[in-house]
Order: sequence, then structure tokens, then C-alpha cells
Amino acid sequence: MNRTPDHLRWPDPLEDLVDGLEHLTGIVVVDETDSTQDALSRLDPAPGTVLVAGRQTGGRGRLGRQWADDQGTGIAVSLAVAAEAPALLCARAAVAMARAYLPLLAGSGVEAGIKWPNDLMVLDPRPRKLAGVLIEQVDERAIIGIGVNVGARDWPAELAGTACSLEDAGASIERLEAITLLLRAWNDVADKPEEVLRTAFTEVELLTGRRVVFEEGGNLHEGLVESVDPFSGVLLRTDRGLMHMPPDHARMHAWSDLPD
Ligand code: BTN
Repeated sequence: MNRTPDHLRWPDPLEDLVDGLEHLTGIVVVDETDSTQDALSRLDPAPGTVLVAGRQTGGRGRLGRQWADDQGTGIAVSLAVAAEAPALLCARAAVAMARAYLPLLAGSGVEAGIKWPNDLMVLDPRPRKLAGVLIEQVDERAIIGIGVNVGARDWPAELAGTACSLEDAGASIERLEAITLLLRAWNDVADKPEEVLRTAFTEVELLTGRRVVFEEGGNLHEGLVESVDPFSGVLLRTDRGLMHMPPDHARMHAWSDLPD
């Protein structure tokens, strides 16, 4: 059967959606691109412009990694915004993802939330990533890229233990619906002050109370997470006392109280 690719039906409903969202100014739907980050940057976009692709073949992740979803089963969304402090943008994007997708998983019995700084994850039966954020800031503008695993069921060997889709986690939705939920959620958080974001982030973050390993300055530190603040970082109780893991240097290396 020759089915119409779903993204060919996206432009009209997404344009209508964006027309009604005060913090978004326009949306571009492309069939296929290497990275939506680059495709949007090439347009010299005004703040509030969104670009989504039916298929992304060379997605970039944080820390120089790749974001693999070239089967067209996930969504790749890039959004131009006025530059803000990186931690603020990071928290906004994390809270937007949480607002968009956690309600879908609420009845599934799967523990899910945000792993600092901004991965959307499920923990059952092991930590696996549903969605991630890449923020690239140049001068006065930032491009926020969000990738969400929506319908994938088969994963390549290198992702099989670490990636998860909404479908895998019990939430079957179309990609258009996934984009719609995300853009509405972004619009809701786009002008929220730090305190509101902090509260929303803290309610859904997954690290507090868990034993984890952090990497900071080339060293590994294992400990119990005492608290997570989206702007200042993580307080980790280790054998050597309380250590601060700052957002700009530290990254989580492993969960030590959950199976890999
Ligand atoms: C990460 O978790 O490492 C961040 C992944 C970000 C992937 C998205 S998909 C849309 C946008 N375009 C890209 O090339 N990357 C981001």
C-alpha cells in the first residue's frame, strides 16, 4: 500500500496552531534535512520561528554526540528564540518537554521525568531516553533543538538499551500530535520567570535521592544526590563530603542504583 507520508499533512494544522500561540511567529515544515538546527539557522530566523522536518538524517546531540532518528519515527523540532542565559533556556526546554509528554505517561505505571539538565527519561525497567534538547547560541539568538522518540519500536543495537519511545512507554500518539503538544507547552513556559521554572523542574526531576556517578573536571564522583537546581546544578553527598556539580562543567556519568 502506498501511504502518504504523514508530514505532508502537517503544514496547515501547524500554521493554524502557531497563529494562535503568542510566543511563536511562524513555522516551516521541510521534508528532509540533515539537522533541523542548520536548516533553521540558514533561514536567518526571527525569534519565534520553528522548523520541523519529516525526516532528519544527521541530527546532532549534546556533547558532540549524534541524535539518530533517520527513520522518520520521531520528531525533530528547532526553535529560534532571543538569547538568554543558557541555564534558563535549558530549564525552559526541559519544563516544556515535561509538560508536553509526562501527562501521557501518567497512567502507564512507568516512572518518567527529567534527568538534569534536560533529558526526558523513563526509569522502568532501566533508564532510557525519550527526548533530548540541544541549545546552540550565537550572538543575540539561540536555536533550541528538541528531538523526541515518538513511534519507534525497533532500535539499532547501539541504542537498544538506552533509548525509548513514547510508544514503547505506553503512549501511542501521532507525530503531528507530538509536535502540537510540544509547541503548546513551549508557548506556556516561554515567558515564565526563574522561580516558576525552578518549581516546575523540581517537581519532575529524577535525580534527587538517587545514587549516581558524576564526571567533573576529569574526575568521577559517586554519591547520593541531595538536591538539583536547574540553574546552579547538583549537590552530591559523597564519601568526601558534599560536592557541587555545576551546570557548565559536570555531567552525569551513570546511575549507580539502577541497572544500565
Ligand atoms: C541530546 O539529548 O543529546 C540532544 C538531542 C537533540 C536532538 C534534536 S532533534 C532536533 C534538533 N536538530 C538536531 O540536529 N538536534 C536537535
